[in-house]
Amino acid sequence: MNDKAKRHLITAALPYANGPIHIGHLAGVYIPADIYARYLRGRGEEVIWVCGSDEHGVPITIKARKEGVTPQAVVDRYHEIIKKSFAELGMSFDIYSRTSSAMHARTASDFFRTLYDKGEFIEQTSEQFFDPEAGIFLADRYITGACPKCGAEGAYGDQCEKCGSTLAATELVNPRSTVSGATPVLRETKHWYLPLDKHEAFLRQWILEEHKEWKTNVYGQCKSWLDAGLQPRAVSRDLDWGIPVPVEGAEGKVLYVWFDAPIGYISATRELTPEWERWWKSPDTRMVHFIGKDNIVFHCIVFPAMLRAHGCDADDSSYILPENVPANEFLNLEGDKISTSRNHAVWLHEYLVDFPGKQDVLRYVLCANAPETKDNDFTWRDFQARANNELVAVLGNFVNRALVLTGKYFEGAVPAAGELTDYDRDTLAELPRLRASLEKHIETYRFREALKDAMDVARLGNKYLADTEPWKVVKTDAKRVETILNVALQITANLAVAIEPFMPFTASKMWAMLGVERLSWDALGRADLLPAGHTVTREPGLLFEKIEDEAVEAQLAKLAATKAANAAAEAAAAAPDPQKPEVTFDEFEKMDIRVGTVLDAALVPKTKKLMKLKIDTGIDTREIVSGIAEHFTPEELIGRQVTVLVNLAPRELKGTLSRGMVLMTENAEGKLTLVTPTEKVNNGAVVR
Ligand code: MF3
Ligand code: ZN
Repeated sequence: MNDKAKRHLITAALPYANGPIHIGHLAGVYIPADIYARYLRGRGEEVIWVCGSDEHGVPITIKARKEGVTPQAVVDRYHEIIKKSFAELGMSFDIYSRTSSAMHARTASDFFRTLYDKGEFIEQTSEQFFDPEAGIFLADRYITGACPKCGAEGAYGDQCEKCGSTLAATELVNPRSTVSGATPVLRETKHWYLPLDKHEAFLRQWILEEHKEWKTNVYGQCKSWLDAGLQPRAVSRDLDWGIPVPVEGAEGKVLYVWFDAPIGYISATRELTPEWERWWKSPDTRMVHFIGKDNIVFHCIVFPAMLRAHGCDADDSSYILPENVPANEFLNLEGDKISTSRNHAVWLHEYLVDFPGKQDVLRYVLCANAPETKDNDFTWRDFQARANNELVAVLGNFVNRALVLTGKYFEGAVPAAGELTDYDRDTLAELPRLRASLEKHIETYRFREALKDAMDVARLGNKYLADTEPWKVVKTDAKRVETILNVALQITANLAVAIEPFMPFTASKMWAMLGVERLSWDALGRADLLPAGHTVTREPGLLFEKIEDEAVEAQLAKLAATKAANAAAEAAAAAPDPQKPEVTFDEFEKMDIRVGTVLDAALVPKTKKLMKLKIDTGIDTREIVSGIAEHFTPEELIGRQVTVLVNLAPRELKGTLSRGMVLMTENAEGKLTLVTPTEKVNNGAVVR
């Protein structure tokens, strides 16, 4: 780096712990950040890379409510999945923490308190929608209704997806809570706001004048926010999940997730080292935030405003601001937006199971195709083509040939180089040139180009062997072959250095094959990395295997199955069964439907679907066999009131005489649910 004296503090957006990691997260944020961190460490720079799970916010509480578990249970589950899959992919975090930690609560709470004490917030009371049934205030996206602009049903409290209008929740026609279905009511509530307008002049100068070098997508988004004029933003919420607002009279209020989450970078550093202030409060630190484009405003405008508002403590210096925020665009999958809710994604933890040992293939493809300047598409065919045509045919093939030929002609001992030809010299001169190009590209966050430079080392090697043809020359000039393979092996060692930031697993394998300890970045460009006489392996396995058509087809089939299931669920939700043919009142009167109570429930032995229920119908206690075992556990049924068709002709099922039928309906996902009176009634009460 040109600025040797500095330390590097790298952050990657804290992923929400309400779902696993998918390839969009990886291509946009974590793979570039890991490449950058590994590169700088390789250069001997002082680096820390901090990350962790973002465990607060409304979506986590909604998910918990749906599943009938606590928010803590939700974040515990996903934090583990995320942390483990990141580690398996070789993400070289110095710490992967989480925002439900005690250290984070203290750090975020103190941060708020400092701003509060300095008078950096404004307090404001406003009317917000409240769900009287669930007893909670509703975030905009949990209110739906008809769009006031186009009339479409199902518009959200912040936006209509049909016509694209931005809305306020109060504008919706017939608003409903998506939590309970209740009609929300307006209630007064007090919150604290960070007056971003107060920091606008500073931010304009700092970003628009002093950081013209930021990526154009980042700079452009900042400029349009600043040009539109900044408004105060609420930093608290009415919610029972999060860090309590540390102010008297703030019961039931927590810090807004976007206030506490970026402070998570600070808490994680504090957990990592007692010297955390050396990183956060020194002009010698360069801080770089790796994020996706939906996070730009928070990292370029809101968090910097928070850090500046915090200012200087009495006896130390103030927080630094990021030097760069290289945000990426989005990755699509097979032509469609990646979607967690529709399960249209390639999940990292599943990839690791489906493609064991192929971490570097994913790292390679996602970097080669990263959405650096525009949205990009991931397709399984492209994954296969890159794996087979680039990793197998270029990289793997070159390394294999260099080692196999050395084994064959020199029993694995590195031959000495004799006199170099002009062609040898020109080839070796490419190495420092590629190094310079690679460095320039990484340091300007152009990782796709940088990866191309690294792969060019392998291309150079392949071309060199193809042009010098040692397998032919060996018949006439054995001496010359010594030089050729010396050059080829020096290129191989250079290649291992060059690819390490991108493909660390492959680099390690190559060091083992070459029989040397990992060399540092400074080795790159040199032609004397392997001394004559040093032995390399004579049995180089293949670095990469071909990705077969079947593997690709299986992945495509998995995506197609999800699509079909979504379509079926949507169709079922949209189109109820058509009405059946008319019946007369007399015909209806023949059916005797009663309310009863489930006394006992047990799976019918040797079946998967059948449940034997004992029901008090008011008339008698009887057994009914019902095909509901995949939808309920016995505990979910025992004690519940149900409606029963009691005069249905008895039927023998798996050895039990079933006398009647329990009435059910189905939710949108096809799960059965009981039809139960909304208040308790006597067993035997007639339904009519
Ligand atoms: N959880 C957020 C997201 O996935 C990112 C938070 S970044 C942080 O979009 F800086 F706030 F931590
Ligand atoms: Zn609309």
